[in-house]
Amino acid sequence: MSRANTQTRYGSVAKTLHWITALGILTLLPLGMIATRLPYDTAEQLALKATVFSVHKTFGIVVFLAALARIVWAITQVKPAPLHPERKLEHWAAETVHWLLYGSLVIVPLSGWIHHAATEGFAPVWIFGQNLFFIPEHQGLSDLMGSLHGIFAKVLAASLVLHIAGALKHHVIDRDETLRRMLPGTVEAGGAPAAHTKTPIVAALVVWGAAVGLGATLGQFEHHGAAPQVAALEAVQSDWQVESGTLGLSIQQFGSDVSGRFADWTAQISFDDTAPTDKKGTVEVTVSIPSLELGTVADQAMGADYFDAASFPTALYAADLFSTADGYEARGTLTIKDITLPLTLPFQLDLSDNRAVMRGAVQLDRRDFALGANMTDEGQLGYGVALTVDLIANRAE
Ligand code: HEM
Ligand code: HEM
Repeated sequence: MSRANTQTRYGSVAKTLHWITALGILTLLPLGMIATRLPYDTAEQLALKATVFSVHKTFGIVVFLAALARIVWAITQVKPAPLHPERKLEHWAAETVHWLLYGSLVIVPLSGWIHHAATEGFAPVWIFGQNLFFIPEHQGLSDLMGSLHGIFAKVLAASLVLHIAGALKHHVIDRDETLRRMLPGTVEAGGAPAAHTKTPIVAALVVWGAAVGLGATLGQFEHHGAAPQVAALEAVQSDWQVESGTLGLSIQQFGSDVSGRFADWTAQISFDDTAPTDKKGTVEVTVSIPSLELGTVADQAMGADYFDAASFPTALYAADLFSTADGYEARGTLTIKDITLPLTLPFQLDLSDNRAVMRGAVQLDRRDFALGANMTDEGQLGYGVALTVDLIANRAE
């Protein structure tokens, strides 16, 4: 069997790529729907859901690469002529569905991939990693792509129903060679090429546009973020005013790093490096728990099993600041929920005039603060939580 297409048949490469992508799509559609609907109330359910999602995403990228190969190949090939070019409407409908399918092969996996890459957390992609070139970490972008992924996947499913129905109609009712021409073998059929118009592409674009419009009407783009709407923390008066800074955290979930940060926190700092004793000052940091940005797992982190943000909306770190042989240390206590434990944070400080650049890091054990107490498997959710603090502060006038 020849590899290339002719006017009367599909070549072996086009057939192989058609059926590889067809099998992939027919697996991924139910897999995506199942993954989305699986419950995650217990640790076991969560682990299963994450695994099904990891399979969906990783296999989705593999199918995407196969689809790209298929599209590149199709561009270099002649298209076998339709068997009934005189049935203009039928031919037009088939062409429109082909455009919808080819387009879906790009926009469905790509939107899924961007949805995943623009955020942190839940269910890593195996082999290909978390990030995608040029895609910034941006929760809004991720949410948008997640909605589009769902909508475009539905358009793909509907197009596929029409496509399969068309193939079966040719096979069972018309009893022609349309389906056999796509199956292994050397069947040839068809003759004069049909006239091509641009209207099927336009019709496909209209279908996607209408689907996005319908999705918007049905509220598919509304994301009820994890964080309950809470008032921002009140500014505090301090000897040193924080100009900018990041309070970050990082934890391993299913073997991948999930990193996030608290967007809202205040620090009341008094500090005098010239003080005659080792103790140079004090600090009190208040952290708004619902301000945690942790991608797709922020929701889960707010729940009663974790930070229980509804009952304990703030965490507090109160410490004395000491100079040590190789830098500085904050020695104090950290309160998360109703648990208070001692915590020493080593940090480096660059002081120039009235400006301080501070950088520190410390490792916590989440079990000490009853965070995710039912997640007892370290492989699913690491015990260690790396906290980092970076800030620039200016001495108040
Ligand atoms: C059981 C499932 C499927 C069946 C029975 C089937 C059948 C066929 C047949 C018979 C053709 C040839 C049509 C013609 O000669 O005009 C065809 C072409 C095509 N199929 Fe499928 N197909 C299936 C699944 C899929 C899937 C999942 C996709 C992609 C998402 C897909 C995309 C296409 C495209 C784009 C063409 C046009 C190829 C070209 O001319 O360049 N098909 N299919
Ligand atoms: C052609 C390939 C793909 C198909 C056919 C597909 C199909 C689907 C379907 C049908 C759903 C369920 C939508 C719903 O019920 O609302 C889904 C969800 C999802 N898919 Fe895919 N997918 C593909 C590729 C990918 C890829 C490559 C990724 C990521 C790397 C991905 C990530 C996701 C995610 C994260 C969800 C859950 C969306 C949410 O509710 O936030 N998918 N997919």
